[in-house]
Amino acid sequence: MHHRIRFIGLKESHVEIKLSNGTMLPIEMHKVRIVQKTRLAPIAERLLAIEEGGYNTFLLRTRDVFIDMLTDSGTNAMSDNQLASMMVSDDAYAGGESYYKMLAAVKDILGFEYCVPAHQGRAAEHILAKMFVKQGDVIPMNYHFTTTKAHFELAGGKVLEIYTDEALKTQSDVQFKGNLDLDKFAAVIKKYGREKISFVRMEATTNLIGGQPFSLANLKDVRRMASAAGIPVVIDCSLISENAYFIKRREPAYADASIASIVREMMAQADLIYLSGRKSACVRGGLIATNNPEYFEQLKAWLPLFEGFITYGGMSSKEIEAMAVGIREMVDIDVASSSPDLIAYFVNSRVKHGIPAVTPPGGLAGHVDAQRFVPHVPQSGYQAGALTSAMYIVSGVRGMERGTISMDRDAAGNDVFSDMELCRLAVPRRVYTVSHIDYVVDRLEWLYKHRNLIGGLKFIHEPPVLRFFTGKLQPIDNWGAKLAEAFVAEFGPNG
Ligand code: F0G
Repeated sequence: MHHRIRFIGLKESHVEIKLSNGTMLPIEMHKVRIVQKTRLAPIAERLLAIEEGGYNTFLLRTRDVFIDMLTDSGTNAMSDNQLASMMVSDDAYAGGESYYKMLAAVKDILGFEYCVPAHQGRAAEHILAKMFVKQGDVIPMNYHFTTTKAHFELAGGKVLEIYTDEALKTQSDVQFKGNLDLDKFAAVIKKYGREKISFVRMEATTNLIGGQPFSLANLKDVRRMASAAGIPVVIDCSLISENAYFIKRREPAYADASIASIVREMMAQADLIYLSGRKSACVRGGLIATNNPEYFEQLKAWLPLFEGFITYGGMSSKEIEAMAVGIREMVDIDVASSSPDLIAYFVNSRVKHGIPAVTPPGGLAGHVDAQRFVPHVPQSGYQAGALTSAMYIVSGVRGMERGTISMDRDAAGNDVFSDMELCRLAVPRRVYTVSHIDYVVDRLEWLYKHRNLIGGLKFIHEPPVLRFFTGKLQPIDNWGAKLAEAFVAEFGPNG
């Protein structure tokens, strides 16, 4: 292959750059005009910070964080047009013009007539729980998200995860590990029937198992089976543009389709959608949309009680304006690809260096498989939590534990071991560059070579629900300090 610039498709301007040595460069399709200073605290400060934060990266202050990969949620770079739109927002308790701009964007891009804002994704889930979930119901889905499961179970429902067998394999070539298993779905329909199934939920890129997409073919099958049984289809669209980008890149029938047309086709399969606007749409807020007037009546009833009047739903009018712009921009292929392309570079660099990664690369983060990284630490020692803290100590990079700490205990007080133990290194959209990613890969490589220094953790303070947010832990045998010592021996105190 010659090095050259390739244009994919005719209508869209996405550019893939191949360097002369054959590497694909995830080049930024934007200019950076506003920057925020960051600082790499010396390792002694980092060790102190993580000890004070109870080996929980949620409890770090950002002044102690060099590269913040905790999440891609609400931390994306906004566009110039989004920021400009915030200046003309219309503050009104009811009927604000900003809302109508969002409504128009939802109609144009997603194809829904009715839409209400909510202050973020979990607020939308709360409202859906009120509308659909009855005591004893089941909610089948391709995978749960923490807040999703908490809200639906609080309402008396039970989440049924009916992913394909491949979904839990961290090393895989299967392109759509987010697909719903159709045989399992048929069995669930047969067993529970329309009466006991609140709805079927498809999460666009399964967050907790590596940001893996579903295919349009799978979604259409789900739609067909659900409709035949009278079961509503709900799509969690928080990462919709990334899932659509994967469909374009990985599902041959859509190779020449625009992101906008793929998104429209996905939306046509849903009875109702909701999203956290903090991801693909690059704002802080959420929404629920549908074409069903009966659902809209119910939304109008619940929303003012929990969120705010139906034209602001707990969001600031500035963010509503920016959401209207963000929804239009997220179907621009340069925006939709910005995070997946950098993640692919990140994951492929790690695979090249033999560092355990979740493959294929997903939609929101480069995930590190802690079970393969620190196999000497038992799952009861919280492998993912230990690895995430160790990574912070040696690099100042803040990731998020997505493993057993993110699962709450069962009724008997026992740990519920997570399907996967992942250290999630999220890639916020348009925030970090290739040199940031190269640094993260280098420090991961060093850590992998010194992985035997990483030990387990134990809880010293444990909240009863969603304990991962504010729980505190301690390293068993003080391994954090020993790891820092080994690092200083090689890189000095300022490394
Ligand atoms: N659904 C998905 C797929 C999500 O990833 C999230 C949030 C939510 C719903 C809830 O939305 O945060 O706006 O209330 N994910 C964040 C993360 C928290 O870090 O992955 P929210």
